[in-house]
Amino acid sequence: YVLGVDLGTSSVKVVMVNRSGVVTAEASESYPLIHLQSGYSEQKPEDWVKGTVKAIRRLIQESGTAPEEIQGLSFSGQMHGLVLLDKDRRVVRDAILWNDTRTTAQCRLIESKLGSRLLDIARNPALEGFTLPKLLWVKEHEPQLYETASVFVLPKDYLRYRLTGQLAMEYSDAAGTLLLDVAEKRWSAEICEALGIDPSVCPPLVESSDLVGTITLEMAEQTGLSPAAKVFAGGADNACGAIGAGILSGEQTMCSIGTSGVVLSYEAGKDRDYAGKVHFFNHGQKDAFYAMGVTLAAGYSLQWFKETFAPEQSFDELLTALGTTEPGAKGLLFTPYIVGERTPHADASIRGSFIGMDASHELGHFTRAVVEGITYSLRESVDILRAAGKRIDSITSIGGGARNDHWLQMQADVFNAEVVKLESEQGPAMGAAMLAAVGCGWFGSLSECAGQFLRPAKTFQPDAERVRRYDELYTVYRGIYAATRPLNE
Ligand code: XUL
Repeated sequence: YVLGVDLGTSSVKVVMVNRSGVVTAEASESYPLIHLQSGYSEQKPEDWVKGTVKAIRRLIQESGTAPEEIQGLSFSGQMHGLVLLDKDRRVVRDAILWNDTRTTAQCRLIESKLGSRLLDIARNPALEGFTLPKLLWVKEHEPQLYETASVFVLPKDYLRYRLTGQLAMEYSDAAGTLLLDVAEKRWSAEICEALGIDPSVCPPLVESSDLVGTITLEMAEQTGLSPAAKVFAGGADNACGAIGAGILSGEQTMCSIGTSGVVLSYEAGKDRDYAGKVHFFNHGQKDAFYAMGVTLAAGYSLQWFKETFAPEQSFDELLTALGTTEPGAKGLLFTPYIVGERTPHADASIRGSFIGMDASHELGHFTRAVVEGITYSLRESVDILRAAGKRIDSITSIGGGARNDHWLQMQADVFNAEVVKLESEQGPAMGAAMLAAVGCGWFGSLSECAGQFLRPAKTFQPDAERVRRYDELYTVYRGIYAATRPLNE
């Protein structure tokens, strides 16, 4: 077996996968988010370690697996989170996460110091969620802590460090720091110098399927894993989602709806220029890339809606409304900007809206409007990819958004593309397990592994009439951003 460990924002999920790609056991543990004030989002790295240890231990015990049967493991991790370590590799402060938006001033500083060089080198604009602005925030606001830091890592790198004692970062996650020269795959001395960052805070870089080490004796004892289990570097959750969805060649594209939502498309080379309109990151497949648009609050919008207005219902109950209401939710529109937005607006201060309320609207219409609003937001990313010349006829859908057939049909109609659901929608955790499977030598490449592990379960075709209807509504949706912008200025 191999394990895929998906270190998410709300929980860690561990899956055990056999040589045929079948998930034979899984376990998860959740941990809290700390919001010290509006816009702040932090976590305790120790919670990730404890949660992972507990989940692996339970998975091994409950499945009755002998430790030596687990040959290797790898990781998928929430991206961008800043974990600062001192010279003894102790955590200096709580991690500042990808969905923390306190760093607008630092983003403006990065832009003023680097101008167009930032896009040339890092291939992405300065956004609050990325790691470099967080590093600059700590430098400015907590100089004593910054002084004690000797290296920074990202969430799953810290977890891997604790399991193996070996410190490393891999390219797919390093790409989201804004400190990496994405095309050349090395830390950018130019960016470090322009912002007064000592390059020695950047950790050694490795490939996603590289062997980083084995389990320390202490961690073997705590988790129940064999100390001989091989630990492979892993990837950013979106890169692992892409691997787990088989997005490994050509113009393959996926839609992943978790807390955030992304539309991600494979890029074989570094040359397609999106001018920073979508993210451009290194893939977990060696020397490949991907372009990606992000909706900050995708599943999170639905979760907020449920907790606020229908806490007694399960998601499944709530989403039955998608089968009983019509496209357009009887004139109700929702924009999912409840924590700001990335693509296409890159605006941390915009907020969401319900527009078009009618006295006859019921909970079901609101639910449908939320789901439609999330899907329109993702369509904006699909449009940017298409405008850059990509042909997107088929989209593989993964994550929570792929669990409801009505939502999958809506994606097909709103994106005007075939939507494919896989047999196992483990997404990033499966991608992590695939990196371990390739690392262990079970397969010669990720594509070979995907051929064995991934099977389509169902496809959804766009319906011409609904495509037309959603096109009209989408045009109205797109106008809401500019019209509501002054509310949050
Ligand atoms: C991507 C991003 C999110 C996180 C979620 O840029 O910020 O998708 O990776 O974990």
